[in-house]
Amino acid sequence: MFATRAQFATAENALTVAVAARRAQGLPVIDLTANNPTRVDLALPQSAIRAALIAGLDGTYEPDPLGLPIAREAVAQHVARLQHRGQTGFAPVPASQILLTASTSEAYALLLTLLCNPGERVLVPQPSYPLLGFLGQLNDVHMDPWPSQFADGWHVDVAALHAAVTPQTRAIVAVSPNNPTGAVLSPHELALLAEVCAKHDLALIVDEVFADTLRPPLGDAVATVAGHAACLTFALGGLSKTCLMPHAKLAWMLVSGPQERVAEAMLRLETMADTYLSAATPIQRALPALLDLVPMIQTVLRERLEGNLRFLQQAVQRTALDVLPIAGGWSAVLRLPQPVDERDWALFALQETGVLTHPGWFFDFTGDGWLILSLLVHPDDFRSGVRTLIDTVSRATADA
Ligand SMILES: Cc1ncc(COP(=O)(O)O)c(C=O)c1O
Repeated sequence: MFATRAQFATAENALTVAVAARRAQGLPVIDLTANNPTRVDLALPQSAIRAALIAGLDGTYEPDPLGLPIAREAVAQHVARLQHRGQTGFAPVPASQILLTASTSEAYALLLTLLCNPGERVLVPQPSYPLLGFLGQLNDVHMDPWPSQFADGWHVDVAALHAAVTPQTRAIVAVSPNNPTGAVLSPHELALLAEVCAKHDLALIVDEVFADTLRPPLGDAVATVAGHAACLTFALGGLSKTCLMPHAKLAWMLVSGPQERVAEAMLRLETMADTYLSAATPIQRALPALLDLVPMIQTVLRERLEGNLRFLQQAVQRTALDVLPIAGGWSAVLRLPQPVDERDWALFALQETGVLTHPGWFFDFTGDGWLILSLLVHPDDFRSGVRTLIDTVSRATADA
C-alpha cells in the first residue's frame, strides 16, 4: 500500500537506545548536543519579539505565492547587510527574486522538485547535516556526497567533486557555514563549485542558515552567495537560525544567476509555491520587525557560542584532544587522540559518565575519532559536561 519513498529505517541506533535506557533508570544525562535555541536559556529581547508577533496578527489575508512584498523587501535588506559585511561584490537581490517558505527544509524540497526528475541526482557536502538524505528520499532524488577533508582547515576535495558528477546530476548543495564543521566557502571554493556547475549545467544551492554567525575576522570568507551570477544560484536562510525562532516557521530563498534562468526558475517556483501557500501571513507581517532585532539576538547568541568555545579550547590544552577551528555555526568538532581503538567514543562517554555528544558518523565524517558538541548548551552544563568528557577520554586513552 505504501510508497518506497516513505519507507524508513526504524531501528534506533545504539546511542539513542543507551540515552533512553539511562533516562528510564533515572540516571542523569548532560546533553552536549542540545541545539534547540528555545530551550537553552538565552536572554533574548522577548517583549520586542512578542510585540512583533502580535502586530503581525493585524490585517486581512492577501496571499502572494512568493511571500508578502513587505516581508521579501525585509529579507532583501537583511541579506544586503550580509553582502556588505562580507564585501561580496555581488549585486543586491531584488524582492522579485526572493521566495518565502515555511522552512529551509521546505525550500530544499521545492528546489528538488524544480530541478530533478525522479531518479536524478544532487551532490551534497560530506560531512554535513543528516536531513539532506531524507529530503532526497522524499523527492525520489539520490543524494551523492562531495567530500571535503580536514587538513589545517576544511578543503574541498576537487578531484572527488569532479568525479562525483554524473549525467543525472542536477545540482550541487553547499552548506556555509557548514553544520557541523563550521567551514565557510572561500571565493576560490565558490569559483570551483561555479565552474563545475557551469560545465555540467547544474544549479548551485547554498544553505546559509548560519550566515549570521560568521566569526570575525571574516578574511576572505564568502558571507553570502546571494547575488552570485556565474550559475543559477539559490541562497537559503531562515528565522530558525537568524532569529533563533525555529517555531516561527519562516525561511527564504534568494535566486540569482543568468537572467533567463532566474526568470524561468521564479515563474516555476511561483506556481509551485501557489499550490501550497505555506508561509503563514502573521509571521510574514512580523518579519521586518523581527529582522530589525537580528543584531540584538545575534549578540546574545555570539556571547553564548564564544564563551563555550573559549572554555572548550582552554579545557583541551595539554590533553591529547583537539578542537578544530570554526569560522561560524553552532557546533564544535573535537578530534580525539589517534590512534584510537574501534571504540565508539560517544557511546562510551554516555555509558561511563552520562555525557551525551554526537559521534562523527552522525554527520558522515569519515574515520573514527570525532565528537560533535553544540555550543548553544547552557554554560553550566557545557562546562561540567566538557570537564567530565575530557577526563574520561584522557583516562581511557592513557589506559589503552
Ligand atoms: C544546515 C541546516 N539547514 C537547515 C536547517 C533547518 O532549517 P529550518 O528550520 O528552516 O528548516 C538546519 C537545522 O538544524 C540546518 O542545520
